[in-house]
Amino acid sequence: MKTLLVTGGCGFIGCNFIRYVFEETDFSGTVVNVDALTYAGNPESLADLAQAHPGRYVFVKADICDKAAMAEVFDRFEVDAVCHFAAESHVDRSIVGPGAFIQTNIIGTYILLEEARKRLGKIKRFHHISTDEVYGSLGPDGYFVETTPYDPSSPYSASKASSDHLVNAYHRTYGLPTTISNCSNNYGPYQFPEKLIPLMILKAVEEMPLPVYGDGLNVRDWLYVRDHCTAVWRILNEGREGETYNIGGHNEIENIRVVQTVCDILDEILGTTPNGTRKRLVTFVKDRPGHDRRYAIDATKLFNELGWRPEESFDSGIRKTVQWFLDHEEWTNHVKSGEYQTWVEKHYGG
Ligand code: NAD
Ligand code: DAU
Repeated sequence: MKTLLVTGGCGFIGCNFIRYVFEETDFSGTVVNVDALTYAGNPESLADLAQAHPGRYVFVKADICDKAAMAEVFDRFEVDAVCHFAAESHVDRSIVGPGAFIQTNIIGTYILLEEARKRLGKIKRFHHISTDEVYGSLGPDGYFVETTPYDPSSPYSASKASSDHLVNAYHRTYGLPTTISNCSNNYGPYQFPEKLIPLMILKAVEEMPLPVYGDGLNVRDWLYVRDHCTAVWRILNEGREGETYNIGGHNEIENIRVVQTVCDILDEILGTTPNGTRKRLVTFVKDRPGHDRRYAIDATKLFNELGWRPEESFDSGIRKTVQWFLDHEEWTNHVKSGEYQTWVEKHYGG
């Protein structure tokens, strides 16, 4: 692998992944980061890397749905591996407006697959980043395994499921050397503050109401983002072609407990407010339509075949995350301004 094309590298997981590649692996080639810079993309997240590795880190502002632009990227940089993160990623947004999800997640993935197919033999690996949400909702017991039938609930998860099927089809039909990973909920530095954990941190700091959907007993299986990155790197390099790997670290927690934990940590670091503990800010609100009740990943295949293990527990990861957001006010203020703020005002009235 000499030139790794990373799509969506200015988003949450993509920027953590590129950081990981430069900081902790022995990769000596070039990373080309293609990102359209939607509301969720922020090149600032990698500004120091761009300075530290001129020539080895290249940023191209482009839309993965732009066929001509993608063809140029593959040719100009002689791309020989792809790690595809770019997506519309927020379930609530997909409920309000599915169009962008169909476009980027399905059509965008198709465009990239086609460019890779045109270069069969040259492309050593096409790794597609996907989600556990493709499997739908679990009851109180059981885990998602790689053979769990797809049963997506939201336009977001349906679009990710479609892209997974396309990736598998390109492997079976054309022999493209693909891999897919389906990961559980990530959290950590640089996560866009529309997702549960950063949203609750920032609102709790400002002592604003903390909106918990429904009864707050929906369960998500949390993984610290750096652990997702180490798993993706392992699969990209050592995963078997045509295979899917589930990624998760057995951290199933009810939403209400996640929010209470964030409140407790903030009370500990900042002190309780004159009105008391931040838990009092929890406000139960109308449930998300089609809200999946529980996700839980069985990552045995990844453990056994590739020897991957997560390093962070939820306790250690959530503390690091709260502290990171407290230390990076400038970053959060910047990403929350502009297009995102306009969208929140339009759909939620502020
Ligand atoms: P994100 O929303 O933070 O970032 C997405 C990035 O993709 C942004 O930088 C955005 O500008 C870019 N992008 C969007 N549309 C584009 C387009 N048409 N062309 C080029 N770039 C475009 O998302 P994330 O949370 O970092 O998720 C990354 C990937 O991981 C997604 O594929 C998502 O489905 C998957 N995933 C996320 C999680 C999670 O918990 N966040 C868990 C499992 C899988
Ligand atoms: O499981 C992997 C998925 O995790 C990824 O594929 C998605 O890209 C990512 O956004 C995430 O999806 P979720 O819908 O699980 O994440 P979100 O942070 O939006 O919500 C987590 C849980 O918290 C979910 O049960 C809904 C609830 N929630 C969310 C928000 C934003 C609230 O109760 N209140 C909120 O304000």
